[in-house]
Amino acid sequence: MTRDTLHRPLKHLRLSVTDRCNLRCSYCMPEAEYAWLARPDVLTFEELVFVADRFAALGVDTIRLTGGEPLVRQDLSTLVQLLAARPWLRDLALTTNGVLLAEQAQALKDAGLKRITVSIDTLVPARFKALTRRDSHGAVLAGIHEAVRVGFPQGLKLDTVVLRGVNDGELVPLLDFAGAMNAELRFIEYMDVGGATRWKREDVVSRAEVLERLTNAFGRLEPLDGRGAAPAERFRLPDGRTFGVIASTTQPFCGSCDRARVTADGTFFTCLYATAGLDLKTALRRGDSVEAMEALIRDRWTGRRDRGAEDRLAMRDRGPLVSAAQLKQEPRLEMHTRGG
Ligand code: GTP
Ligand code: 5AD
Ligand code: SF4
Repeated sequence: MTRDTLHRPLKHLRLSVTDRCNLRCSYCMPEAEYAWLARPDVLTFEELVFVADRFAALGVDTIRLTGGEPLVRQDLSTLVQLLAARPWLRDLALTTNGVLLAEQAQALKDAGLKRITVSIDTLVPARFKALTRRDSHGAVLAGIHEAVRVGFPQGLKLDTVVLRGVNDGELVPLLDFAGAMNAELRFIEYMDVGGATRWKREDVVSRAEVLERLTNAFGRLEPLDGRGAAPAERFRLPDGRTFGVIASTTQPFCGSCDRARVTADGTFFTCLYATAGLDLKTALRRGDSVEAMEALIRDRWTGRRDRGAEDRLAMRDRGPLVSAAQLKQEPRLEMHTRGG
């Protein structure tokens, strides 16, 4: 087991397969123009699997595929199949916006994907369009229905970023929708990560506020045990339904964070808020040995001291983490490049 300076093990790898996305959510990609990773820098499937194997040697047994939007990467189910065949793999998940899911759900399941998380911030089509600048609400709902029909072995989760004055009136309808889909909904606090260039403290609907509103609507909420290192805290409603809250902004969980992130161009980040990453692609493409690459990753993890979200919480004048101008210079600072 590889542990960092705060004794946190390296367990989860969030592997981004592309920085491209087919939506423009206001909390993630609000700008008109973006600087993209250079195409030749994007790792091939073979390279991604090679990188995953190196992380596995240091303790990783869970992979979550992220983006950008992972389903815009050509032939993603082939990568799923390659990863699903790794003997060390315990869990293989995907985070998607759902736009292309109706077309791909069956192939992803057949390839060995175990579970899936779909972002759904609103049930109102016009609001979806205002929030994402794309007319894809119907496609997302179709994607969720198809994921339910196909049935992933370890289930379906739905993620909602709660934004004041935008979708915070939809907490109950979204819970009802998730219930109808037999999925677990998680309410996510709006974070001041890279990419969130319009972030304002006032727009965050906190964990406390979400819980208060749901208590008013339903009655006492029962907290559930067994969170471990998971970002979500889970609760049960009096009617038995469960849901989660991810309080990255007001109650961060850095103390138990066991997640590594690798961007589509092979840059390794030890925190969602980290401003510098470690280039693995160069070592990979010049043919460094397996041992050398594992040593590179191990050294970075054993030296890790990041507590990004907690550092942000301690700040007085909190605004966006990085400016739009900085993001143009360094696209790896973007949330959509480092995989949410
Ligand atoms: P499971 O617990 O395996 O279902 O995954 P997850 O909750 O990590 O996955 P998902 O991609 O659905 O993440 C949901 C949201 O949690 C992300 O979009 C982020 O908003 C937040 N999140 C995930 N990982 C981190 C992290 O390392 N740090 C912080 N601060 N927030 C995170
Ligand atoms: N705050 C919170 N979550 C975010 N995501 C992206 N940007 C933000 C942000 N500023 C996460 C959400 C979304 C996924 C694609 O990335 O979970 O559903
Ligand atoms: Fe982990 Fe950084 Fe997120 Fe804290 S802010 S939970 S250290 S990725």
